[in-house]
Amino acid sequence: MASRGGFSSKAGFIAAAAGSAVGLGNIWGFPYEVGAGGGAIFVLVYLFFCFVLCFPVMITEIAIGRKSGRNAVGAFNALGHKKWNFVGKIGVLSGILILSFYNVIAGWAFGYTFQLGSGNFAVADNFTAFTSNVFEVGTYGMLFMIATAFIVSKGISGGIEKAAKILLPTLIFMILGLVIYSLFLPNAMSGLKFYLLPDFSKFSFNVVFNAMGQAFFSLSLGMGALITYGSYVGKNDNIVSSAALITLADVGIAFIAGMMIFPFIGYISNGELTGVGGGPELIFVTLPQIFGSIGGVTGSILGASFFALLCFAALTSTVSLLEVPVSYLVDEYKLTRTKAAWLMAGIVYIIGIPSLVGNGYSEYFTEFIQYFNAETKTNFLSFVVNLANDSFLPLGGCLIVFFAAHIWKKENIDAEISIGAPNYEKSFVKKYLSIALPYLVPILLATIFIMTVLVTFFGVDF
Ligand code: PHE
Repeated sequence: MASRGGFSSKAGFIAAAAGSAVGLGNIWGFPYEVGAGGGAIFVLVYLFFCFVLCFPVMITEIAIGRKSGRNAVGAFNALGHKKWNFVGKIGVLSGILILSFYNVIAGWAFGYTFQLGSGNFAVADNFTAFTSNVFEVGTYGMLFMIATAFIVSKGISGGIEKAAKILLPTLIFMILGLVIYSLFLPNAMSGLKFYLLPDFSKFSFNVVFNAMGQAFFSLSLGMGALITYGSYVGKNDNIVSSAALITLADVGIAFIAGMMIFPFIGYISNGELTGVGGGPELIFVTLPQIFGSIGGVTGSILGASFFALLCFAALTSTVSLLEVPVSYLVDEYKLTRTKAAWLMAGIVYIIGIPSLVGNGYSEYFTEFIQYFNAETKTNFLSFVVNLANDSFLPLGGCLIVFFAAHIWKKENIDAEISIGAPNYEKSFVKKYLSIALPYLVPILLATIFIMTVLVTFFGVDF
């Protein structure tokens, strides 16, 4: 499969896959889901999903990708189960849907880099005015999509691998610096308590399915992104240790992003934490306030660099999102990579327009009526976020694992994982997977998915 290109090394794969995982999901999504989900109880459920359920899904996706050497749809054909390639097709659609809203938020982050760079900390108080200005934010989004398409059109490039290796650690250092800064603010501890001490009375079914959606989204699972990236992985690489590193990096970065934001929310709300409703705007309102409180040129430089780094983290994720439909078109329809990348980018940008205008500009999409139920209005962007993250991704993950364990068969998964992982045969992971893949993961995911459908469409209350 030399002609499809590939990662230069195991480190290159890990950098690219961790780059896919680490993105807006960690720094924008995680804190807002924690805020909306009642704090530490959400964090607890989230960690459970990441390590117990998602880690096996990640190993499975990479194994399917490497064994088949194909895109998310073609992988099923190559393994001899063409009937199952609908799972890959759901994945391609999820990727398109996710990228359509993701790019809008990335565009905001891009715009913030300039706003804070020019010392406009007040943008935080006028967030709706900022997002309603669709021509400006639409242009930022378009530039972002162009950058994504450009990188994808160049293939699995050494450039993005190398850049990821430098810029991600820089982002981590910067977040750690801000963690220290916010921990010393008055009332920081009340924020930290909200974040780290679970209040079990807040446990609900909503917490469970939001945490699950967030885990899948943040780890880039359930839509074949890692099947696709797995298809570029070398046979000597160790899938288990790679998956472990990717999961740890992703969860770790989300966790410290929370350590940065919640003490600060404690500070600005005078310890009341009333403002912690959470919502897609959380980091766009809270973070600039942090930089504003530092103030002056220092605040401006820090603010601009923070959002620039966030854009970079988002870019390594948008690249992986676009790569899923692009590799599908390239492998299955023999389009050139360049053509496929620009074509898909254009389509996805257009699909993203309702998400773009649904933040103050268009009343219809700002007060969008979900599932034809007038009582459940939300902005269109949140609607798509929830639809994709909480339904499509867990469903995709469930089907992928079910397919792997029961159709492709566990022996074949084990055989693929063993290549490059000499200790796997006798490991605890192997034992765990023999319960997790055929039973635990699909049963739990299917149950939660069915409950989600009942809640959403039939108004059942659990
Ligand atoms: N994991 C990315 C993030 O957290 C988003 C993503 C989801 C990327 C699915 C690829 C596939 O920002």
